[in-house]
Formats: sequence, C-alpha cells, structure tokens
Amino acid sequence: MDKLVITGNGPLKGEILISGAKNSALKLMVACLLTDEPLVLSRMPNLADTRFLSELLASLGVEVYWPRGENTCHLNAATLKTTIAPYEQVRKMRASFNVLGPLLAREGHATVSLPGGCAIGARPVDLHLQAFEAMGADIVIEEGYVKAAAIRGLKGAEIEFPFPSVGATEHTMLTATLAKGVTTIKNAACEPEIEDLADCLNAMGAKISGAGTSTIEIEGVSKLNGHKHLVMADRIEAGTYAMAVAATGGDVLLRDAPVEGLSAMIESLEKAGVSAMPEESGLRIQRAEGRLKPVDINTAPHPGFPTDLQAQFMALMTTADGESTIRENIFENRFMHVPELSRLGAKIQVKGNEAIVTGVDELKAAPVMATDLRASVSLVIAGLVATGTTTVSRVYHLDRGFERLEEKLEACGGKVIRETE
Ligand code: UD1
Repeated sequence: MDKLVITGNGPLKGEILISGAKNSALKLMVACLLTDEPLVLSRMPNLADTRFLSELLASLGVEVYWPRGENTCHLNAATLKTTIAPYEQVRKMRASFNVLGPLLAREGHATVSLPGGCAIGARPVDLHLQAFEAMGADIVIEEGYVKAAAIRGLKGAEIEFPFPSVGATEHTMLTATLAKGVTTIKNAACEPEIEDLADCLNAMGAKISGAGTSTIEIEGVSKLNGHKHLVMADRIEAGTYAMAVAATGGDVLLRDAPVEGLSAMIESLEKAGVSAMPEESGLRIQRAEGRLKPVDINTAPHPGFPTDLQAQFMALMTTADGESTIRENIFENRFMHVPELSRLGAKIQVKGNEAIVTGVDELKAAPVMATDLRASVSLVIAGLVATGTTTVSRVYHLDRGFERLEEKLEACGGKVIRETE
C-alpha cells in the first residue's frame, strides 16, 4: 500500500494543468451504452475510478481501447454480452450503478447490484429508482440486486425530485434519451458536470434542453450515434490546488481550471484574503504574507459551496486568524478528516453537521491516515503547511480521484514523495 511523505516547504509557485473531471468522465463513459457506435472521450483522467469503470463496461461487452497513461479512451458498445452488473464490480464504486438506466433503455432489462455498502438507507438510490418507475419500468429488489424491466420500452414522464440529487439527475437524463416521448426533470441538480453530459448526449443525437438549470426536458429519440467529446476540466481538482496554494502561500496558475463552476469557492477564498483571478488560460491563485482571515462556509448544491471541497477548505481554515464555522449540508458523515487534522494540531470541534475551527499559529507534522477521497487530500494540504514531515497512509483513496497529485505539486515546489509500504 502506498503512502505519501510530505514535507512543508514554503510557498507553491508555478503552473498546474487541471485534468478532466472525474465526476463528469464517469457518467460520460456510461453514455457509450446508449449507442452501437463508438464514443471517444479525450482529456480522460487516468484514475482508479475511471479505470475501474472501464473494466465494468468491458465485462458488459463494451470494446474498450484505453492504453495505460493515455488520456483518450475509445468505447464501443456495438454489441453487449450481458445486462447484469454483479456486486463484486458495483460495490467498489457508487457511480457504477449508473449503468442500470442506459442498459434498461437500450435492452429493456437490466440487473445491477445496489452500490457498495448501500442498502436502501444511507446514501440510497431511491430517487433513481422512482424516476425509472415513473418512466414505466418494473423494479424489484432481490438479494441486493435491482432488477429492472421495461418490456414495452420506457415512456417519458414528469419527475420532480424532493432535492437536487446529482446522480439521480444524470442517471434519469441518460435513460430518458431513449424513452418514448418527453421527460421533464424538475428540481434537477445544476452542477456543471450535468451540462457536460447533456452536451455530449446532444452531440450524440439526443434532444435535451435546460441542463444546468433546475428544469431539464428530454425528448426521447429512437437512436443515438457515436461522438468524440472533450471531458470538462475538473473543478474539484482545481479547487483543491487553489486551496493548497492558499494554505502555503505563493502564486500558481491553474491551467484550464473551469472558472465558471468555482464561483462559490472563489468568493470564499477572497474573503479569506487570497486572490483568485480568472485569466484567459485558467485561474491564478496568489496569497501574500500574513494570516488568512476566518471564513464560514455552508455546503450546498451548485452553485453553492461544493461538499467535495469542504474538507480542503477546513484544512485551510486550521491556520486562519480566528474561528470559522463549516456546515456540511449534503452528506451526514463527512467530517472523517477532523480527527486526522487534529493529529496535526488543528483545533476543531464538531457539533452535528457543524465544525467550529479555531485557527492555530502552525500545524505540526504527524502520521495520518486517508479515510476517503476528499478527506485524504485535505491531509495533503495540511501536510504542506505543517512543520516537519507528515506521512499520509492509505493513499489509494486519493488515487481514485487525483491524477498524478505528487507530480503536480512537486512541479510547484511541494515536497511530496510516494513510498510503497
Ligand atoms: C455526486 C458526486 C459526489 C458529490 C455529490 C454532491 C459523482 C460520481 N459523485 O454524488 O462527488 O459529493 O454528487 O455534489 O458525481 N440521495 C438520496 N437518494 C438518492 C440519491 C441521493 O437520498 O436516490 C442523497 C444522498 O444520500 C446524499 C444527497 O442525496 O445525501 C446528495 O447525493 P447526490 O447529489 O445524489 O450525490 P451523488 O450523485 O451520489
């Protein structure tokens, strides 16, 4: 198992090229199931999660051509071998569940395991299933599997989500492209990745309007064609490096950062005293000498502050000059980084979905453990500002979502070395 050894080394300076967005890439890959023509995705991030999904797609019969280390992935679902996605493959990553709708829309039936650790309970998929039922699918849950059938095909429907779920919006949109008639999604999520998916589907021949707003309309078509699509750049990766520069000080250009999707974060960074200036080629982050100001944040669906940047912002606030309150409103258990940040000397008190962070003068290095994807990168940020050498173990969590993290930081002067335990 790999670990990262991080030595605080002062300000970061230089340029970081932002990779393709993991959360967009995963849904775009699934779109290949909707057509018997090739879908080619460029700026594909080489990540454990995207590689893993390519294996699942291959097991369904998709021809995948994606040489190691390359950023263009060719997917061809001309013929499918099966419409069953087994537990061993779906349990590892929740986004794998998104094969259900496209398989159902194309083949009229699909059997897909419920996602990892998710009985219909915490982090459920009930909204996804309700949408498919509204579109005329028969759904049964048996032995941990969702068995869905629509013998006479799916029909357009009016669907209103009780809250804007990203996954349910994307999954419904994918599925409705091949339904008969018009599907309307109300209270849809508005994340930029949803627009990226709609752009790709429209170029494949779908008829989707309103993606990126809270009402999306999808007029079903009988067939989709192949396409070559450029995956949008990753706003969460860009936001993470922005926070790293804000924490260490310095001056870094985040090349290709999708600035429009980062307005809530930019606003919070500026309140903290960090300059985040959009430029033609990306976003420049600069922080001068002196302590950061404390800033309160509330995570919320887009365009609010993204939950996927909450842990990183908390790491930033650990050395601010005063007290900040961080409220997590999307996931109930997303403070797993708190005990690890505390090991580095951070002062954080958790009360329900609120964390009160009292800034300290400095963090001190310690061995810490990655617990999940975004939590673990907050430890890297903290390690970069701590005095001494911090080791972050279990970095496989990081490898799920950050492409060449240590290389990108090292190019800007960060001392981050990967070691195999
Ligand atoms: C996606 C992102 C994830 C991000 C999240 C919120 C991907 C691969 N993942 O996750 O990085 O943190 O959006 O921006 O794109 N819920 C239900 N029933 C459902 C679906 C969701 O109750 O059927 C709940 C979840 O438990 C959670 C909340 O809704 O509390 C938000 O989930 P959702 O927006 O669906 O997130 P994901 O699509 O899973």
